[in-house]
This record gives sequence, C-alpha cells and structure tokens, in this order.
Amino acid sequence: MKLGKIGIIGLGKMGMAIGRSLKGSSLMGYDIRPAAKRAASRSGITPAKDSLELVSKSNIVILAIKPQEMKEVLVNIKDAVTARHLFVSIAAGISTRFIEKAAGEARVVRVMPNIALIAGRGAAAVCRGKRASRKDEFIVKEIFRRSGKVFSVAEKHINAVTALSGSGPAYFFEMIGHLIRSACDLGLDKQTCKNLAIQTAKGAVALLETTGKEPAELRDMVSSKKGTTAEALKVLKKYRLGSILDKAVKAAWKRAGQLSTA
Ligand SMILES: NC(=O)c1ccc[n+]([C@@H]2O[C@H](COP(=O)([O-])OP(=O)(O)OC[C@H]3O[C@@H](n4cnc5c(N)ncnc54)[C@H](OP(=O)(O)O)[C@@H]3O)[C@@H](O)[C@H]2O)c1
Repeated sequence: MKLGKIGIIGLGKMGMAIGRSLKGSSLMGYDIRPAAKRAASRSGITPAKDSLELVSKSNIVILAIKPQEMKEVLVNIKDAVTARHLFVSIAAGISTRFIEKAAGEARVVRVMPNIALIAGRGAAAVCRGKRASRKDEFIVKEIFRRSGKVFSVAEKHINAVTALSGSGPAYFFEMIGHLIRSACDLGLDKQTCKNLAIQTAKGAVALLETTGKEPAELRDMVSSKKGTTAEALKVLKKYRLGSILDKAVKAAWKRAGQLSTA
C-alpha cells in the first residue's frame, strides 16, 4: 500500500524508529536538534528546515515529540495545516480532541506504541479522532504494522494501553535484570546468565503464542509437586508478586490520567 508523503516531527527514539521502519516511503523529518536531523538524513529521511516546511510538504504528519512540547509544535505549524492532513500522535496523554482543537481541519489518529518497535516487535494501539475516517485508521495501522502488531481500541482505554504495553517493556527489563543478578549470585557468569534469561523469556512468549494456552496453565506445566519451580512460585506468592504488578500497572494508569489533556 502506498502511504503518500510522510513527515515526522521529533526524531528521537520513537520518531527515528518509526522513520527507519518506513524505509522506501517518501519521508521527511524535523527535530530541533541538528544532530538528530543529520542522523535522520543518514537513514534516508529528508531533513526539513522547520516544522512548517515539513507540514506543507506532507500528507501524513507523525507527531513524535514529548507531550509537553505538543502545544508549541501545534501553534508553530497551524498556518500550514489543511484538510488534506492526517495527523498521527504518539504522545502519551494528549487526546485527539486537544490536537483537533489546535490543528484546524486536520484529521487525527492517536497511537500508543512501545519501544519494541525499534526491534520490529512493537505493540501499538490505535484510536481515531472524530474527523478521522476508517480509511485513516487503516493507513495508520499500516504504518505501525511495519514495526510490529497493531490493535484498535476506544480512546477511553488508551491509558490502560499505556500502563500495559506502552510502559510494559520496562517491567520485563526490570524483572529480567533481577533474574540475571540472582543467577550471577549463584556463580554463573554474567553473559551466560543474560543469554539464558533472554532465551527463556523468548521461549515463554513463544509457548504463549503457539499453544494459545493461558499463562496460568503454562505455569502449571513447568511446575511439579515438591519440585524446584513449585518452591520458587511459593516465594512469589508469599511476597505477592501479583499484588506488586497490579499496583505497578495501576500506578502507570493513574499517572497517564494525570498527564492527560482533554
Ligand atoms: N519512549 C517510549 O517508550 C514511548 C512509548 C510510547 C509512546 N512514547 C511517546 O513518544 C513520544 C516521543 O518519545 P521519545 O521517547 O522518542 O522522546 P525523545 O527521544 O526525547 O524524542 C523527542 C525528540 O523531539 C525533539 N523535540 C523537542 N521539541 C521539538 C520541537 N519543537 N520540534 C521538533 N522536535 C522537537 C527532542 O529534542 P530535545 O531532546 O532537544 O528536546 C527529541 O529529539 C512522546 O510523546 C512519548 O510520550 C514514547
């Protein structure tokens, strides 16, 4: 599918990764940091001299700046926005309504991706604003399909998505980091611990995907009565891993709500 002319404002971690995943498309990028523009140019993204030029030369504008920069960026580009523009925002907490109010006639689709899109294994959820069409949503899903899996959600659920998959990679990094340290304490060298932990995480995910079984069912397959896994699971239960994760996800969800703009 031909995506048309795409411009990316904000060439940081996410903006650059999205740009790289769209190799072969007509791509323009803008960032206030000259080094980011040079890096984009090396990746085949044409640097724009400012955000106004980018908007006037694009049909699809991906807003990949931090939430706190959104208002200023929208004010700067206002004069170049027309009804032909489809705006795609990945900023946490910024509603489609906020962008619609600030961006004239543009249609708006909001996406909550995650950092795994850098490795082509992202999880993204998409919702559309009131002027965006099904076709707009389809186009945006096509963009994020290049770097992972994409799902549609209602905008009222986007903070839950942020708490689960937007922030989620960090939960796994934290847990895997602890597992590596614990195994190192037992005398294994760090690289071997890391290799085994990564392969174990991949294997667990592959089993979830290929068997379609529930996590609890697979957990019970690893654990035999009085065995080693059962002992470890007893400790996780005693120290309430479930409750810790529940509190963490709900804290992220609450924070997303606090950061939200109407
Ligand atoms: N990182 C994640 O895991 C993740 C996951 C889901 C969603 N998101 C969302 O993705 C967005 C981008 O996050 P990120 O992690 O890629 O941030 P980032 O690495 O800080 O990238 C943002 C880039 O935008 C630049 N910038 C600042 N003001 C600008 C302006 N007025 N015009 C053009 N460029 C400007 C920044 O420059 P300076 O550094 O000089 O400010 C930086 O290079 C955020 O809204 C975030 O909520 C991120």
